Amino acid sequence: MEKPEVKYLKDYRPPAYWIDNTELNFDLQETNTLVKSVLNIRRNNDLSDKTIPLVLDGKNLELLFVKIDKKHLDSDKYQINSENLTIYDVPESFSLEVTTKIQPQNNTSLEGLYKAGGIFCTQCEAEGFRKITYFPDRPDVMSKYSCTITADREKYPILLSNGNLINSGMTDQNRHWAQWEDPFKKPSYLFALVAGDLVYIEDFYKTKSGRSVTLRIYVEHMNIDKCGHAMQSLKKAMKWDEDVFGLEYDLDIYMIVAVNDFNMGAMENKGLNIFNSKYVLAKPETATDIDFWNIERVIAHEYFHNWTGNRVTLKNWFQLSLKEGLTVFRDQEFSSDMTSRPVKRISDVRSLRSFQFPEDAGPMAHPVRPESYIEMDNFYTMTVYEKGAEIIRMIHRILGKQGFRKGMNLYFKRHDGQAVTTEDFVKAMEDANQADLRQFRLWYSQAGTPEISVKRAYNHKNKTYSMTFTQKCPPSPGMSEKKAMHIPVAVGLLDKAGNDMPLQLAGQDKPEGTTILLNLYKTTQTFEFVNVYEPPVPSILRGFSAPVKLRAEYTSREQAFLLANDSDEFHRWDSGQRFFAGTMINMVQGKIKNHDPDVLGAIIEPFRKTLLSTELDKAFISHVLTLPSESELGILISETAPIDPELIHQVRRFITHAIAKALKNDFERIYQDNQEKGLYNIDAESIARRSLKNLALSYLGMLETPEIIKIACNQFNKAENMTDEIAALGVLSHIQCSEREKAIDDFYQKWKSDTLVLDKWFAIQAGSQIPGIIDKIKELLNHPDFSIKNPNKVRALVSSFCGMNPWQFHHISGNGYKFMTDRILELNAINPQIAARMAGIFNHWKKYEPSRQKLMKAELEKIINTPDISRHVYEIVSKALV
Ligand code: PHE
Ligand code: ZN
Repeated sequence: MEKPEVKYLKDYRPPAYWIDNTELNFDLQETNTLVKSVLNIRRNNDLSDKTIPLVLDGKNLELLFVKIDKKHLDSDKYQINSENLTIYDVPESFSLEVTTKIQPQNNTSLEGLYKAGGIFCTQCEAEGFRKITYFPDRPDVMSKYSCTITADREKYPILLSNGNLINSGMTDQNRHWAQWEDPFKKPSYLFALVAGDLVYIEDFYKTKSGRSVTLRIYVEHMNIDKCGHAMQSLKKAMKWDEDVFGLEYDLDIYMIVAVNDFNMGAMENKGLNIFNSKYVLAKPETATDIDFWNIERVIAHEYFHNWTGNRVTLKNWFQLSLKEGLTVFRDQEFSSDMTSRPVKRISDVRSLRSFQFPEDAGPMAHPVRPESYIEMDNFYTMTVYEKGAEIIRMIHRILGKQGFRKGMNLYFKRHDGQAVTTEDFVKAMEDANQADLRQFRLWYSQAGTPEISVKRAYNHKNKTYSMTFTQKCPPSPGMSEKKAMHIPVAVGLLDKAGNDMPLQLAGQDKPEGTTILLNLYKTTQTFEFVNVYEPPVPSILRGFSAPVKLRAEYTSREQAFLLANDSDEFHRWDSGQRFFAGTMINMVQGKIKNHDPDVLGAIIEPFRKTLLSTELDKAFISHVLTLPSESELGILISETAPIDPELIHQVRRFITHAIAKALKNDFERIYQDNQEKGLYNIDAESIARRSLKNLALSYLGMLETPEIIKIACNQFNKAENMTDEIAALGVLSHIQCSEREKAIDDFYQKWKSDTLVLDKWFAIQAGSQIPGIIDKIKELLNHPDFSIKNPNKVRALVSSFCGMNPWQFHHISGNGYKFMTDRILELNAINPQIAARMAGIFNHWKKYEPSRQKLMKAELEKIINTPDISRHVYEIVSKALV
């Protein structure tokens, strides 16, 4: 293909025209949809050039009419090509009427207006509005919208758009219409429309200033009994945002619609969120504890966008993290307050390291505020979202809770109703606190994960302890030299008994607390503690105070000590993980022998202690005892050596098996002691108990004995909630036995009419550790309930295979790779966004041993040499090949 155009931040120019009002009219029909738009347009007089033509974005549109101030425009007055409608010599202010024809029923990209499962719905972020009508489809053009929808009354009884319902009626016997108006100005990416045969549950929320808001969740008929948890989550989120940030909802109605076909998790359209049904629908029989948590988190995330994203929006797409980083930070804080702060932190850091760190070290590495892109859809990344949230968290830590709140207040005071930049946000934080974040801003512009090494020295004579930090950041694509960053590192010191020491830096006249925030500014920087009564063990990067790789060179003894004693639960977990990972990596690299009883003993003892602890929280225990996954081990190994997925698989399997064997009786006891007592509940304590019980079951499953198979079958057959049912099925799925086949069949028979539960059924099979599972997966592609057009199904069957089954995906035959390429090419024609996501699986090919490298490279070349490759896939694959 010819090289697609690259867009650069440095080329940003303000829009030449403003759109004050946007009046949309949709006539939804079965074979096509007519869209009429009337725009009130006004030239941007801040620009000196008054002759710039009006250029509107538009894609896959059939243009029917253009009128200016109600008069038809001759075709020599405008030009259309595949991306734009350009109109020359327009007046300074005028009304433009454009009528276009589109085919939502054929739109498989799930972007723009599309019809899936009999429901019409829209997805406009980032640049989907241009697939609906001609418009300046950029976030700094904010307009007031009204929207009239006309459709068949029987097929589409529910007609929704943003804002308030103004009017509705019948056009004839069969067709009805509804008119919606959104009083708030917004960019086109926040526009939404839904039409379908839906039902809803309704509730109310009274805001702190006393207004009553109607809350509605719209779903398909059969799902009406699965909305309660989402509604409760919404109300909690509304209350939390009032309590923590003083932010209130601003419309009289808040609507959420659940659809099955959706590219992402959910979308924050003003007053009308559209959700992947996965993040709405739940009841104990069909959803796991993790599903319940995810729903609470995503419902809150989209709700929080109403202020961070909608009221204050983006000047251009390079600023995406302004809304996403900040909103992820807000949803993380919300979840921490609703569940357990340390456990939430642990799982967030686990995913940051598993996905964002590799991204930041690979061919797609980009700053949190990217400088360029080919396809914006490819920049909804872990870096923009999660590293972006880490930046906000560091600011929060540096300024403190109150300072941060002051900054937020100033940010809204200055920018409510505006389209702004990450710079505006940082400036508000600075100004509200008289703080200096000049060097800190590098976090937005420098890609790559900084690495910190620490040298420590205790001086017996003076009772001083010094820590010397050195930071460096490896080169990234297009950025070889990096400047030293401002890195906040939270540190504590433990004495021999495992207690926190009071901390006093040289120059301070008395100790201040037991955790201190050290601010690194220079490449190398030394801190000296005084009155340190004995040689300490340092606890460095408590709470993961900065998204960096720490090379602290702890001995395994120190790690075990920190696992047993650190008062910072995050660091305690982290020390345990490093300890377990260290041993396994040494085995993979042949530095220690598998069967050395001392080695096993060294792992099993701290493991047993943690397992049997009566004082630790059970959720925390489950996290500590979840050994680093094969992919996590691969990432750690790749820092110094090539990855061999087969070897890693063998070692990890050996270790988990050895643990299971050694602690069989303990696991059995834990399993029994943590059975459900009384009614099923989704409070944090019950969830923790179930997670520990099912962790014990999964270790026992490693033994593959008839006795264990019986226990798992029993749990599977008796389970009254999905958490236990799927956990038992998961254990059976890895064991070759007739019970396995029966359980898989039974599960299908029981749940075949619930598409979300079937996603779990596909995923469990894709993750099965039974050798040769790829043949089964290929067979499942033809299963009547699988559809390549449904992103959830693709993620369940295809992505789970790569993610949950790395050793089979990376099988040396190359069959896993070929399978993936076939899916990418198939999806390329259907849904380029999803195809590009899938293609990212090859991003880290250079980290593998030579034969796999060669195989993956060949697949990348095959993809890029395929005719009609989309811009989305092209961007990912061409960068991977550099
Ligand atoms: N803005 C959505 C969110 O993070 C994500 C999204 C992006 C959804 C693009 C659809 C398309 O909340
Ligand atoms: Zn978001």
